Amino acid sequence: MSALVSTIQAGFDVEKVRGDFPVLKQKVHGKPLVYLDNAATSQKPLAVIEAIRKFYEVDCANIHRGVHELSQRSTAAYEQTRVKVKQFLNARTKNELIFVRGTTEGINLVASSWGRKCVKSGDEIVVSGMEHHSNIVPWQILCEEKGAKLRVIPIDDRGELLMEEYEKLLGPRTRMVAVAHVSNALGTVNPVREIVEMAHKAGALALIDGAQAAPHMKVDVQALDADFYAFSGHKLFGPTGVGVLYGKSKLLNAMPPYQGGGDMIRTVTFEKTTYNDLPYKFEAGTPNIAGGIGLGAAVDYVNRIGLDKIGAYEHELLAYGTEALSQIGGLRLIGTARQKAAVLSFVMEGIHPHDIGTVLDRMGIAVRTGHHCAQPVMDRFGVPATTRASLAFYNTTAEIDALAAGLTKVKEMFA
Ligand code: ALA
Repeated sequence: MSALVSTIQAGFDVEKVRGDFPVLKQKVHGKPLVYLDNAATSQKPLAVIEAIRKFYEVDCANIHRGVHELSQRSTAAYEQTRVKVKQFLNARTKNELIFVRGTTEGINLVASSWGRKCVKSGDEIVVSGMEHHSNIVPWQILCEEKGAKLRVIPIDDRGELLMEEYEKLLGPRTRMVAVAHVSNALGTVNPVREIVEMAHKAGALALIDGAQAAPHMKVDVQALDADFYAFSGHKLFGPTGVGVLYGKSKLLNAMPPYQGGGDMIRTVTFEKTTYNDLPYKFEAGTPNIAGGIGLGAAVDYVNRIGLDKIGAYEHELLAYGTEALSQIGGLRLIGTARQKAAVLSFVMEGIHPHDIGTVLDRMGIAVRTGHHCAQPVMDRFGVPATTRASLAFYNTTAEIDALAAGLTKVKEMFA
């Protein structure tokens, strides 16, 4: 608690920040909303809502297509987000940033485009045992099509990757290593710099799923040396339906298009089509323009608060929450990695997670229950599902106290 006070004194005022999020002001089932499902999607500050509203109210037009004023304004606002994301991720150029629907589409783009061209029968793709389905299934589809093999880095009882096993998996047939920066189900922060370096030494590429990392920590794609890095706008306090795939330009330039359509072409005849330059080569069709503009506002918002302050505050909240939940008899945390983001996944003896989630909901507390789109993680820990409280910088110690009190009540109800 004293550590939290010190963070607040250091310039992070959680009550002030909460004022930026209209959704947090409501009551649910007569109780103040306690929103602890931020890994599924985070809430949106007024700045994001207003940017989207301004687009539809004032600037609405298609982009890259019109000489008229509204189209010019929309294009400028949308492309401005690309510049903001370039700074946010420290990419070399804005052309290395492809707008996609979200992390899932970013990974599918690489598996489909790069995979189609570069993966052959007998090649190997390495993923980890803690991946979200979206960083497993696209590679499985590719492996099935190509006769390639999917290999899996095992995890230990804390939920950390076994790096010596990873080393053993790497070999001359490894083409791609695809790993989460932060696990959505466990909260583990993986040593991605080392993972990328080891992949490169083996002659493979590395893709990092940054969906759960980008909202919580500073990401520098050049320092990581990742070949591809994907994140979603809606977990970064931005809109749903928009995200970004970063890729090194020399790789993106060599890859075939992902989808055909408008904007991704230079010339079209029935005999032959030539393709546009990066990033447009991978952006067929009218994109989520309002979403892209909203994402720019979200990046600005996060920058204003500062990812360093966000990370430090969430870290203290996590420590507070870990301690509070450890006091509840029969509760077992799933995911106790030494490097963790603000995720508290747990099971309670004899009580199904869906029952826990339903009772908590009646108290106004929103958590996620289920397999969290990471069924292999559940299998690894021998549980069908967990209850997951995932925190953001607008959560408070009082909300964690409410969660702990709610869980104590759940325990009494099911005793
Ligand atoms: N991947 C999101 C989650 O972990 C939806 O909840």
